Amino acid sequence: MSAPLYKKALIIGATSGIGESLAIKLVSQGTKVVLVGRRQERLTGLVSKLSSENASSVQFDITKLSEISAFASKVTSENPDIDAVILNSGIQRPFNFADAKSVNLDIFQEELLTNYTSFVHLTLAFLPFLQAQETTTHLVYLSATLGLVPTLLRTGGYNASKAALHHWILVFREQLKAQPDNKIKVVEVFPPAVQTELHDTHHQPDLKDGHLIGMPLQQFTDETYEELVKGEDQFGIGMAKKTVDGIEKERVKLFQEQYPVITNVLSPPSSSPMQWPRHDLGVGDQWTTPLFSRSFIEIFATFSATMTSSPHYLTGDPTALNEFIDKFDVFLFDCDGVLWSGDHVFPGTADTLEFLRSRGKQVVFVTNNSTKSRADYKKKLDALSIPSNVEEIFGSSYSASVYISRILKLPENKRKVFVVGESGIEQELRNENVPFIGGTDPAFRRDFKPEDYGLIAKGDPSMIDPEVGVVLVGLDFHLNYLKMSLAYNYIRRGAVFLATNIDSTLPNQGGLFPGAGSISAPLIMMLGKDPVALGKPSQAMMDAIEGKFHFDRSRTCMVGDRTNTDIRFGIEGKLGGTLAVLTGVSTKDDILHGEVRPAAYLDKLSDLLSARQ
Ligand SMILES: NC(=O)c1ccc[n+]([C@@H]2O[C@H](COP(=O)([O-])OP(=O)(O)OC[C@H]3O[C@@H](n4cnc5c(N)ncnc54)[C@H](OP(=O)(O)O)[C@@H]3O)[C@@H](O)[C@H]2O)c1
Repeated sequence: MSAPLYKKALIIGATSGIGESLAIKLVSQGTKVVLVGRRQERLTGLVSKLSSENASSVQFDITKLSEISAFASKVTSENPDIDAVILNSGIQRPFNFADAKSVNLDIFQEELLTNYTSFVHLTLAFLPFLQAQETTTHLVYLSATLGLVPTLLRTGGYNASKAALHHWILVFREQLKAQPDNKIKVVEVFPPAVQTELHDTHHQPDLKDGHLIGMPLQQFTDETYEELVKGEDQFGIGMAKKTVDGIEKERVKLFQEQYPVITNVLSPPSSSPMQWPRHDLGVGDQWTTPLFSRSFIEIFATFSATMTSSPHYLTGDPTALNEFIDKFDVFLFDCDGVLWSGDHVFPGTADTLEFLRSRGKQVVFVTNNSTKSRADYKKKLDALSIPSNVEEIFGSSYSASVYISRILKLPENKRKVFVVGESGIEQELRNENVPFIGGTDPAFRRDFKPEDYGLIAKGDPSMIDPEVGVVLVGLDFHLNYLKMSLAYNYIRRGAVFLATNIDSTLPNQGGLFPGAGSISAPLIMMLGKDPVALGKPSQAMMDAIEGKFHFDRSRTCMVGDRTNTDIRFGIEGKLGGTLAVLTGVSTKDDILHGEVRPAAYLDKLSDLLSARQ
């Protein structure tokens, strides 16, 4: 068996439903558990079911806020090997707020206390212990989609308590990430309705067969475990997936784009390029003076201006070009559409890169092209007379291979990758010692035969390799029905669905062709779920680049031709700058009026050379 997901997990709310089921699943995969709840008989029963070697328990009522600190000290001193705290307890109560007399405010208060306030207290009580650990630790919160879209009118208090929890988690996660050397991972799980005691007749007597509402508990638990293994910050299960991957993703994107601007506006002048006079912010007593409201309006006027401001056109303006270049130490370059198109290198590319190097700038080539390994890319750069070394090259195949080998915790017998892609992916997987099948193997480049249906459907080992635990999809020039059928069936059987990148098109020779995103599109259609993408704009790639080059994000600029991948990658990665060029996919209209806009743009990359004058 592979390394367990966690060494030891503290599960708060483990006496029934999701918490109990997750405890059983974790133990079956090698994690030890400490169970918490108020019902002692349930705790005792579960410990004996799981065996005292794997499980222990502490009876505790999380609404007793004043006792939380002592509870945390006791648990962590008895279990110093805890590396995950799962905050799962929750209650749900019905209210008709239009009928004031019917609302029991004590119950309303208890619900808010259980679902929200106690979680903040518990987090703060365990935080110093988690921060003192030398390896990664996890805080996992059970949230609810009703906190995003409050469709269940009868549970208005519950919906609001989960909305509060979600907004608090978004902020808390970013505050943690801003801490030097943060090793705590914050994960938020959005269940759909699940068949548990939450809405059974004991708690909500007017609800007939409430415990039968929703997804079967075991299915929910298995899918949640799979998602926890993937390690995303937040995810939905079942019907919740559509909400979390849809509107919620958009909202988080807005949050990620906007909070750095607000933070910047509110920082002291020394670190703020916007030069806000500190007294104008109404610090201290002045928060209550009319000065505050004036400043507040001004701050948000500046904020809106920043969000809608036009990208700065730098072509032909040597002063502006020099100022722009001086702001950065590192330039991350997208390649296709910026340095070249297909095999046609843009005039002045090598000179421009040389010019930046002569100014002491570090150059990194960041490419979503998955067909080439870093070594292939080096050859391509050499052939185009662009001086480079392999270490300056970061491709999506490399990023995906690193993700599979170092981040995904795959069971020992599920480490094989089914590749839908070309030799670039294969080379990078080989470099990371990851076994694979598919790819360029001619055995998979054949027509589909009628007998294949039956063999694949029953998982015959002649067609379905039981060791495949990942399907990795990149650009494949030989995509066929057989590969799609195999990829689909592996994922249906539990393999992790990864994509090197999700670019819909590939620019070449001045035209556009299907990109890697169009290769995974049929699978997305069949599966109803998106892959984890490892190329731009995925921040997994930015983290990997930063891990390798150790750059200061505020002094790094992303240069690209696509606003929805390159520029978004730079903005979401909180880089100091983004620069678009008009030699690739995005048009001037996209750059000036699109949803994602760069800080500056040029007609072509070599326009940077006029900064030499
Ligand atoms: N089931 C769903 O449809 C659904 C949907 C979305 C989100 N969720 C969320 O998923 C989580 C788990 O819910 P579930 O469906 O598994 O419900 P459940 O079967 O009712 O389990 C709730 C758990 O919370 C614990 N708990 C409640 N109040 C507590 C307190 N004051 N102190 C300590 N433990 C307490 C309970 O333990 P004791 O009673 O022993 O104290 C029990 O273990 C909740 O946060 C819920 O909001 C559930």
